[in-house]
Amino acid sequence: MDHFQYQSGALCAERVAIADIARAVGTPFYVYSSATLTRHYQVFQEALAGMDHLICYAMKANSNQAVLRLMANLGAGMDVVSGGEYARAIAAGVPGERIVFSGVGKTADEMRMALAGGVRQFNVESEPELLALDAVAREMGLCAPITIRVNPDVDAKTHAKIATGKSENKFGIPIARAREAYAQAAALEGVKVVGIDVHIGSQLTELAPYEAAFTKVAELCELLRADGHDIRRLDLGGGLGIPYERSNSLPPLPLDYGAVVRRTLGHLGCEIEIEPGRLIAGNAGLLVAGVTYVKQGEGRNFLILDAAMNDLLRPAMYDAYHEIIPVVEPEAGVETRPIDIVGPVCETGDTFARQRAMPPLAAGDLVAFRTAGAYGAVMASEYNTRPMIPEVLVQGDQFAVVRARPSLEEIINRDSIPLWLA
Ligand code: LLP
Repeated sequence: MDHFQYQSGALCAERVAIADIARAVGTPFYVYSSATLTRHYQVFQEALAGMDHLICYAMKANSNQAVLRLMANLGAGMDVVSGGEYARAIAAGVPGERIVFSGVGKTADEMRMALAGGVRQFNVESEPELLALDAVAREMGLCAPITIRVNPDVDAKTHAKIATGKSENKFGIPIARAREAYAQAAALEGVKVVGIDVHIGSQLTELAPYEAAFTKVAELCELLRADGHDIRRLDLGGGLGIPYERSNSLPPLPLDYGAVVRRTLGHLGCEIEIEPGRLIAGNAGLLVAGVTYVKQGEGRNFLILDAAMNDLLRPAMYDAYHEIIPVVEPEAGVETRPIDIVGPVCETGDTFARQRAMPPLAAGDLVAFRTAGAYGAVMASEYNTRPMIPEVLVQGDQFAVVRARPSLEEIINRDSIPLWLA
């Protein structure tokens, strides 16, 4: 569910007309709904109600500090995967004890930063990382709380680029080697084992892979406890999918996901952590673009937008589908025609949709990409020296620019020309 609906024929974010935001900030831009973000957080709270748990929002999905502050105010923790994300979470007011540090290649500097600022736990992904963290923590006179991320060798049945739980993926320690790794960790003074971590992939549209992975984690938990480890926390990662395409069947609901967690892991009495990103932010955001030209090609027409692959990379990178709707509601029964929807970047990959049925649109009209709140702005670049587009947060009838469009000057001045070329 989201809060982007037509009201009297005008697409709105909560109670703000998208066209009004466009007039104020110019296109293209991202807009996020506070009500949708809040609702998605609460849906997970309800799904895990009665179990000791913490929702650690995977901020890689959308790390605007206004979004982080909103999440933190609701009581969320954060899942971070870099020193940059850690610093951003702290700057947004998230306490260190609610920050989980994930990632396959944490550097010693990143470990130092998180240990100094406070961290809930590191999710360790390899034996060399375990040794590195032990060394850093001891050098600081500290002891780092850790889980070990295990790779359960489960097929998440999602896009190959975002599946992470098969043995051929770079993530985690093979579950078969987990007992050795935990024994190694227990012997180190600079780390303290607090739990187990698993994350099998993103945009999962079935519960069976979760069921399989969590069952393996439950077995491992019992084995590790029998080995004498104090396993009291299970981090289950994120990955629950969302509906991008209306005609597709709906992905499982958080409530049903919660039931799987309860059924497979409830008896262990552990604190549960989950790291949802996409489900919290995805449907809470739109990318709004203007139509620059309608171009007639040979046998097909093109809707050329002022947004491009550098603003929303998902279609070019994963052939991802995003629903694209006009900001002015089309009249009932209006005829749609297939058209290719593209950006201005100089490569054919800069195509958002091929032969998409659209109502008539003209230069100057606005369109909105739905489900663009996750992995949209965060994956943007300045390719073609296109400034990163503004982000706007709506709450009720108010909106605020939460990241401004940089000037061309700011971008140009970031480079410097060496003296020998002067
Ligand atoms: N935890 C870990 C360790 C992760 O690697 C991820 C996502 C998450 C949590 C959050 O997963 P989510 O709930 O958002 O599915 N750029 C891609 C998605 C990459 C996901 C990477 N890891 C896309 O646009 O589809």
